[in-house]
Parts: sequence; structure tokens; C-alpha cells
Amino acid sequence: MVLVSGKVLLQKAKKGGYAVGAFNTNNLEITKAIIAAAVESDAPVFLQLSSGALKYGGFELAGLAIAFARKVPVPVAVHLDHGLSFELARECISFGFSSVMIDGSSLPFAKNIAVTKKVVSVAHKRNVAVEAELGQLRGREDEVFAAKHSYTDPHAAAKFVKQTKVGSLAVAIGTSHGAYKFKGNPQLDLKRLSEIAAAVDVPLVLHGASSVHSSLVAMANKYGAKISNAKGVPEQQIRKAIKLGICKVNEDTDLRIAFAAAVRRFLKENPSAYDPREILLPATEAMKSVVMRRIKVLGSENKA
Ligand code: G3H
Ligand code: 13P
Ligand code: ZN
Repeated sequence: MVLVSGKVLLQKAKKGGYAVGAFNTNNLEITKAIIAAAVESDAPVFLQLSSGALKYGGFELAGLAIAFARKVPVPVAVHLDHGLSFELARECISFGFSSVMIDGSSLPFAKNIAVTKKVVSVAHKRNVAVEAELGQLRGREDEVFAAKHSYTDPHAAAKFVKQTKVGSLAVAIGTSHGAYKFKGNPQLDLKRLSEIAAAVDVPLVLHGASSVHSSLVAMANKYGAKISNAKGVPEQQIRKAIKLGICKVNEDTDLRIAFAAAVRRFLKENPSAYDPREILLPATEAMKSVVMRRIKVLGSENKA
């Protein structure tokens, strides 16, 4: 199948009342796991690479993602996640990505509008979808860091979408990146989400949506990891957010935890193993299960 524009995936999801999963890849095994899960679930997916992923794997990693996307029988959009500059977004568009995020969320409002407009003008000529972000998520990843979060304001969102003509909007409603999302009870600001959805007509995106499955954390810890007080977004809250207008849901941390848990377990149980393909096979299977579980939660199973 040809690479599909992110716009097509999101418009179908918005109409159908489900969300498309967006999974981060950083290497061959993660890419294989996401693609295998999408094919087995007959689901559309975003295969996304962050600025950090491109720094780690180069555009060769993006080329691999595009090659997989072209080969499989389900619709795949290859997407730039948290593009931190106009130049990087333009490079990805030229390289063949079918969707890009320009993340100007740490910039002042007017500058965020300006850089988003610039990306939109280049992307739309090539039928490439553009996602932007308004409001800030808390949490630290390699390339994505915000010390505190400010939730998305519905009025500002309406103005932003009108002025930029962006295709989709990532909102800050209480999630954050990484494995430590909440101190107390996990709670998304669903009232705010419904106000944003009423104020704009574009598909909305939920970042920082990993659920941090306790069974995988426990397995990682059993085999030597030290992950304590980790807390993710409950799947029930993700389902509610989809009913209120979320059409794309980003998940990375859950795959990372599954990978770490499976590698630790395999090495502990197979001390004589040294072939990377053998070591990484259970990790690939574990990540595939995480993606398949997420696809079911999002309602995108059999929507290819
Ligand atoms: O949104 C953050 C993603 O998990 C990507 O993280 O910047 O470490 O690749 P990264
Ligand atoms: P998690 O850290 O919750 O997996 O979020 C990933 C993400 O938002 C990628 O853009
Ligand atoms: Zn994100």
C-alpha cells in the first residue's frame, strides 16, 4: 500500500468515532513490532519518529519506516513527532514523510502561529498533514522537555487553528511524557477537552498517553529494573477522551517498558545467549502485544 497522508487517517477516525494509534520508533525491532501489530489488527497507524529518533537513527531509520509502510496491506502514515524547527519539518516533507508535527508549544503564542503557518504552507503543497501543539505537557524525554504544564485554552485554540489552518492539534489536558505522569490520582481535564472540541473543528491529538501497565513494570522490576511510582493514563480515560474528540493517541513509554522488561527477562533466563536477534525477539513480541492492546482500546481494530 502507498504511504497514506495523516490527514486521511484522521478524517476517517473523526467520522468513525475512533482514534488512530501513533507509536514512536527508534530502531528495526520497534518498527517491526508496530507494523506487525497493525497488520494483525487490520488497523491504520502512525509510525512516528521524534527529533531524537532522527538524531539516533538518521534518515536511514526514516527510510526503513517508509519502506515498511509501502510494503504492508494496512494504511500507515510516517510522521515526524515533535518537530522542533521549520527546517527539520521541511526536510522530513522532502524526504517523503506523509505527516509532520511542528511543536512550537514552548514558543510565545504569536511565534507558534508563525512557525506553524510556515510549515503548513510547505506541507499542503505536498499533501502532507500537519499537527501543531498548543499548551504544554509536563515531563522529560530526550528532546521534549517542559518544566511545568500549562493546559490548552479553548479560545486560544480556536484562534490558533483559524490563523494557521493546521490539520490537527495536540492539546495539553493533564498528560505528560514518560513513566511518571501523575503524583496522585490520574485525572485528565475532560471538561476542558470538550470545550476545546467545541471551539475547533480539527481532529485533536493526545500526547503522553502511555498507560504504564503495572504488569510490565512489575516484570521489568522483577528482572532488575528500578522503576518505582510510575503511573500512566488509565485506558478508561483514553476511551472517554476519544468520545470527546481525540483522534490520534501517542504511545511510546509503554513500548520502552515492554522492551526493557523482555530483554532483562530473556538475558536473565538465557545467560549463554549472545545473538542480538535471539535477545531482541521476545522484546519485539512484547512491544507488538502492547500495540495490539492499544489498538483495541482506541477502537481502530479492523479499520484499515
Ligand atoms: O514525545 C516524546 C516521545 O516519547 C519521543 O521521545 O524525544 O526521547 O524520542 P524522544
Ligand atoms: P508517552 O511518553 O506517554 O508514551 O507519550 C509519547 C508521546 O507523546 C510521543 O509524542
Ligand atoms: Zn509527545
